[in-house]
Amino acid sequence: MSADQLGPLRRERVDHRFKALPPDAEGLTVGELAAERRNLFTGGFTTPVLALSAESVEHNLALLQTYSERHGLVFAPHGKTSMSPQLFARQLERGAWGITAAVPHHARVYRAHGIDRIFLANEVVDAAALRWIAGELADPGFRLICYADSLRGVELMNEALTEAGAPRPLDVVVELGAGEGARTGARTEAECAAVADAIAAAPALRLVGVAGYEGEVPNADDDSVRAWLRRMIALAADFDRDGRFKDTDEIVVSAGGSAWFDAVADVFAEVPELSLPVLKMLRSGAYISHDDGHYRHLTPFNRVPDEGALQPAFRLWAQVVSRPTPAQAFLNAGKRDAAYDLDLPEAQAVRDARTGEIRPADGITVSGLSDQHGWVQTTPEADLEVGDWLGMGLSHPCTSFDKWQLIPLVEADGTVSDYIRTFF
Ligand SMILES: Cc1ncc(COP(=O)(O)O)c(C=O)c1O
Repeated sequence: MSADQLGPLRRERVDHRFKALPPDAEGLTVGELAAERRNLFTGGFTTPVLALSAESVEHNLALLQTYSERHGLVFAPHGKTSMSPQLFARQLERGAWGITAAVPHHARVYRAHGIDRIFLANEVVDAAALRWIAGELADPGFRLICYADSLRGVELMNEALTEAGAPRPLDVVVELGAGEGARTGARTEAECAAVADAIAAAPALRLVGVAGYEGEVPNADDDSVRAWLRRMIALAADFDRDGRFKDTDEIVVSAGGSAWFDAVADVFAEVPELSLPVLKMLRSGAYISHDDGHYRHLTPFNRVPDEGALQPAFRLWAQVVSRPTPAQAFLNAGKRDAAYDLDLPEAQAVRDARTGEIRPADGITVSGLSDQHGWVQTTPEADLEVGDWLGMGLSHPCTSFDKWQLIPLVEADGTVSDYIRTFF
């Protein structure tokens, strides 16, 4: 990926497609607007506006990359979180191996922005998508690895890739499900071996490793996550002993979101000596913006504080448009603007519309979200009137990014230094 590939994003025009951007910036390119270094509060932005902290994102990027290196992991951050080529570029600059995808559409966005290594953490059974993948495999510099967890899946992949004339085999890893009641993934080692047999017999596929997602271990706790991860590395060792990796020059072992990377690092350190080098791949995605709810609670850094701490990077600013009773206020931001699938936004700061002063959001609680309104409850100590801005922390990075197509990247003093384009 090169700077050239981000050029079109800087040349894109700012207009009505991008909510919150200053109406008086209409017609400027994103690059020209960024060069103006406007202030988020006084630069003509309209509310609601989602701000991404430049410093916190940088901090989080650096922290997980160093964490991965320290633990001998290669990092393929999950790109579904941000779907932002600019942030992918930062992840790759910091040494990421490639970017993880969940669906073929993600891979298309990545390819359109010059990403050469993609780990697609799903079985691909869509013939049209497989035809596209077959075409991409003509590029010798491109590597795609995807999951296989069923005989029928292997059959569909092999057929579609063969029919499309794929110039070389597609790399696949067998997915081990994270226990009974988990999401995708073959449930037993015997089923995994049967899938591996089918891959060996499929000329359009090449087995390169094993993978899974500990984030779906039912009722996960430290013991159950580690036990499942140990099953996964034992599977890799069994496959290696049985000579199943004969067509590859490295063995991929992959797991890891943003809730259990400490367990992944510890258990991957136990991978025994295998016949080939092992690519121990971590796939965290949500870490990039972290959050003020779900991941604040789940982050492994709560267990290993001496290894660092992520910083929540999002703040959604909305304006009070109604204060009909002393106990109620209504914001001009709702479900269209804020993540709401895991927790409601957390009121954190008030920007006084009269003075521009920012104070803590004492006595203020977000109690509900309509499509375009936020419901706020206030106690007598709350100092909040119509026109004030309320700054809120969000819970769940993935469903925060996806509501915004061009997100101001804001420095600590309020200067907007760039705009992060997303593709959902
Ligand atoms: C298969 C897989 N890998 C990695 C991740 C990344 O996890 P997180 O969003 O916690 O960073 C996810 C997230 O859902 C996932 O489904």
